[in-house]
Amino acid sequence: MSAAEMMRTFNVVGWALLIIYLLSRVSVCHGAATGCSESDRKALIDFRSGIVDPEGRLHSWQGSECCQWSGVRCDNKTGAVTAIDLHNPHPYDPYSSVWYGFWNLSGRIGPSLLRLKSLRYLDLSLNTFQGIPIPDFLGSLKELRYLNLSNAGFSGAIPANIGNLTKLQYLDLTSVSNVLNDFNPQLIAADIQWVTGLASLRHLALNGVNLSSVESNWVQVLNMLPSLTELHLSSCSLPGSISSIQPVNFTLLKVSYRLSSNSFSMKILNWIVNVSSLVYVDVGDITGLYGRTPLGFSKLPNLRYLDLSMNNLSASCPQLLGGSWARIEILKLFGNRIHSKIPSSLGNMTSLDELDLSNNNIKGGIPSSIGKLCNLKSLELSNNNLDGVLPEFVQRTENYCRSGGSPLPNLISMRMSSNRLVGSLPDWRAS
Ligand SMILES: *[C@@H]1O[C@H](CO)[C@@H](O)[C@H](O)[C@H]1NC(C)=O
Ligand SMILES: *[C@@H]1O[C@H](CO)[C@@H](O)[C@H](O)[C@H]1NC(C)=O
Ligand SMILES: *[C@@H]1O[C@H](CO)[C@@H](O)[C@H](O)[C@H]1NC(C)=O
Ligand SMILES: *[C@@H]1O[C@H](CO)[C@@H](O)[C@H](O)[C@H]1NC(C)=O
Ligand SMILES: *[C@@H]1O[C@H](CO)[C@@H](O)[C@H](O)[C@H]1NC(C)=O
Ligand SMILES: *[C@@H]1O[C@H](CO)[C@@H](O)[C@H](O)[C@H]1NC(C)=O
Ligand SMILES: *[C@@H]1O[C@H](CO)[C@@H](O)[C@H](O)[C@H]1NC(C)=O
Ligand SMILES: *[C@@H]1O[C@H](CO)[C@@H](O)[C@H](O)[C@H]1NC(C)=O
Ligand SMILES: *[C@@H]1O[C@H](CO)[C@@H](O)[C@H](O)[C@H]1NC(C)=O
Repeated sequence: MSAAEMMRTFNVVGWALLIIYLLSRVSVCHGAATGCSESDRKALIDFRSGIVDPEGRLHSWQGSECCQWSGVRCDNKTGAVTAIDLHNPHPYDPYSSVWYGFWNLSGRIGPSLLRLKSLRYLDLSLNTFQGIPIPDFLGSLKELRYLNLSNAGFSGAIPANIGNLTKLQYLDLTSVSNVLNDFNPQLIAADIQWVTGLASLRHLALNGVNLSSVESNWVQVLNMLPSLTELHLSSCSLPGSISSIQPVNFTLLKVSYRLSSNSFSMKILNWIVNVSSLVYVDVGDITGLYGRTPLGFSKLPNLRYLDLSMNNLSASCPQLLGGSWARIEILKLFGNRIHSKIPSSLGNMTSLDELDLSNNNIKGGIPSSIGKLCNLKSLELSNNNLDGVLPEFVQRTENYCRSGGSPLPNLISMRMSSNRLVGSLPDWRAS
């Protein structure tokens, strides 16, 4: 056979195989697909009729197979609609000032959604609903597990009916003004007692919601949620006092209080160190947080992540870093007013992956116990007053990690510029 004949034979066989394959796919699809439920399809059409959609995002919402419509998911056994995800994938990005598109929806959220008896997931985030209130009836979508209305242009009071969603696990009502929602619609919650009805809630985000009128027992109210592990309360104007502190067991807390007074922020910080369940704390970059850093962080037995960076917090380095820090992996303290020397107890943080002490007032040498940090991947010490001779520091750094030749075998990045260190580092890389 000539090469041309071989190609032709292959082509014939190849086409035949492809056609057989396609036929088999077609029959498989037909065998398995359950069409969408007709009543759910009608409910979606009614919902769509209220939505203003100039860019035709809901163009695919026609025909009978509603499970194939964009943003719609169904239960593949019953054909019931289980999810509507219409978040705007191309919102305005205030950081790059670039429009990636104009995919924002607005209009009216009609009660036809209530006919979707199996709806578990609703995401309308990053649209521009132009200040309409959150509809009351969302609280009757009994099967909802996930509700995301973040930065979708809703304003006014959060309806207390939301508290009827006993199966809800994720609630995101973040309403931070941005350029897209430039008339700054704001959500308000005069009280948050309704939250206690959300018995399955795991993740609550109320960033930017005006909570200035909630009672000062809000910590206890939130603590009545047995499964809550993640709480995001940036810029909420929370009231300036916290009544008696009771044991709480959040594991994750990301808080910032740009809108409230500094003294209140410090109260929060003092309170955080008593929450022994915390695993992750991010209160970094709350510009204006100032005062003495509470020392209790080292005693939090589960704490793995602590970010206090870019505040104006003072602390003595030996006091702050002393103590057990039993499970700490990431410690970001850059951009504060931490002073004095790095204590040798640093070597106790044996799980540490990332340490950032840059832009502080730390002086003295780098303790040799740093060689016990066998997992350390990133070490940032720039812009301090550290002194010493670098090659000596390396020699003193004993080889605890027992991993051929390199004192810190996992180190990927280290920065020590703008200090008073002299000498150059030998090549550390493991050979
Ligand atoms: C139906 O969905 C389940 C879970 O999402 C999946 O495991 C299963 O394979 C699907 N069945 C069909 C016929 O697509
Ligand atoms: C809600 O949507 C926003 C924007 O789409 C997203 O960044 C955020 O992570 C979502 N919240 C939750 C709890 O999934
Ligand atoms: C839902 O919540 C509201 C306000 O909290 C309450 O008045 C109403 O009775 C609840 N409805 C149902 C069906 O539970
Ligand atoms: C989308 O956002 C732009 C900018 O805010 C606004 O002018 C426009 O009316 C919005 N489109 C819809 C359908 O709401
Ligand atoms: C929050 O709500 C209170 C009372 O409703 C109001 O006085 C205050 O101005 C609001 N705060 C912001 C930042 O809009
Ligand atoms: C958190 O604490 C509350 C009461 O203090 C308790 O009812 C709940 O079970 C605890 N949750 C977890 C996850 O430990
Ligand atoms: C933290 O706990 C200690 C000891 O249990 C207590 O003395 C202190 O008042 C608590 N701090 C706060 C802010 O609750
Ligand atoms: C940091 O706090 C001190 C007082 O604690 C204050 O004098 C100083 O101006 C603050 N710096 C900044 C940048 O806010
Ligand atoms: C931490 O390390 C120091 C010296 O490096 C040691 O004396 C001390 O017992 C350690 N403390 C804890 C809490 O492990």
